[in-house]
Amino acid sequence: MTQIRSESVLITGASSGLGRELATLFARDGYGLVLVARNEQRLQEIAQDYRQQYGIRVHVIAMDLARPEAAGELYDQVSEAAIEIDILVNNAGFGSYGRFCDTDLDEERRELLLNMITPTLLSKRFLPSMVARGKGHVVNMASMAAYMPGPYMAVYFATKAFVLSLSEAIAQELRGSGVHVTAICPNVVATGFQEAAGNEAAYIGGRLRWVMSSPDQVARKAYRDISAGKRVSIPGWSNRLAVSALRLAPKGLMLRAMVPFMKGPDIPSFQNRKTD
Ligand SMILES: NC(=O)c1ccc[n+]([C@@H]2O[C@H](COP(=O)([O-])OP(=O)(O)OC[C@H]3O[C@@H](n4cnc5c(N)ncnc54)[C@H](OP(=O)(O)O)[C@@H]3O)[C@@H](O)[C@H]2O)c1
Repeated sequence: MTQIRSESVLITGASSGLGRELATLFARDGYGLVLVARNEQRLQEIAQDYRQQYGIRVHVIAMDLARPEAAGELYDQVSEAAIEIDILVNNAGFGSYGRFCDTDLDEERRELLLNMITPTLLSKRFLPSMVARGKGHVVNMASMAAYMPGPYMAVYFATKAFVLSLSEAIAQELRGSGVHVTAICPNVVATGFQEAAGNEAAYIGGRLRWVMSSPDQVARKAYRDISAGKRVSIPGWSNRLAVSALRLAPKGLMLRAMVPFMKGPDIPSFQNRKTD
């Protein structure tokens, strides 16, 4: 029998992948949930399942978060529903793939909004009341990509570096306030992420299958680290080791070493020019 808790958790990108797995863990522990993503039907099905299985309160908000006004609209809808958010999980995100000079500007604008701007603005809106209450938690989905530049996913890797940097700085500012901030930094996870990034990224994902984790494994470790109030969660001991190695690796060497993993077969190489 689930022990119903009074606290509420807002999770963006809760309709699939890591967001869905994290939502299930919070649901099992009896938290009230606010589930956000674009696919309303999917969210309603998940919400109904949680209500039946765990007897918890679940509120669904279908919204495209890759818009400048999204954070304000979401905050207003949560306030109108009179729900106090104790834990904010900024999970929704996607990665565009390709050579930076060729990739689509509008898609990358949406990526910057979804991965960086909306999580920053949501944190800005929800944090003050958490601080006033002396308790709360912001969880930001970063990535191991935050620890290195990513040729052919340049914008995505840069957005995750932003998320990690912002999270760690805010976590430090909030020490002693009773409010925690955790950045989650998974390696490659078997979710809809690769498909959403396009065919070539899915191909790259296939190439990296040997380091791929399952979303439930990653979510369970992240959930334990969130509960322990950790500043950064890197699921998987080999990934923690890799991050330590990345900190020591010379940048030029690291960049060159990444190309065979990141460059898809359809990406043309530049011919060496005389001026190079
Ligand atoms: N999979 C990996 O290898 C990996 C590794 C490290 C970090 N991450 C990070 O983990 C997070 C979750 O990704 P995932 O792997 O679970 O991928 P996923 O299965 O594709 O899930 C992405 C979630 O974000 C939602 N979403 C996408 N665009 C949205 C938008 N414009 N507005 C609102 N919601 C939107 C999707 O729902 P709708 O389509 O219904 O909107 C879905 O619920 C992302 O931040 C990603 O960068 C993933």
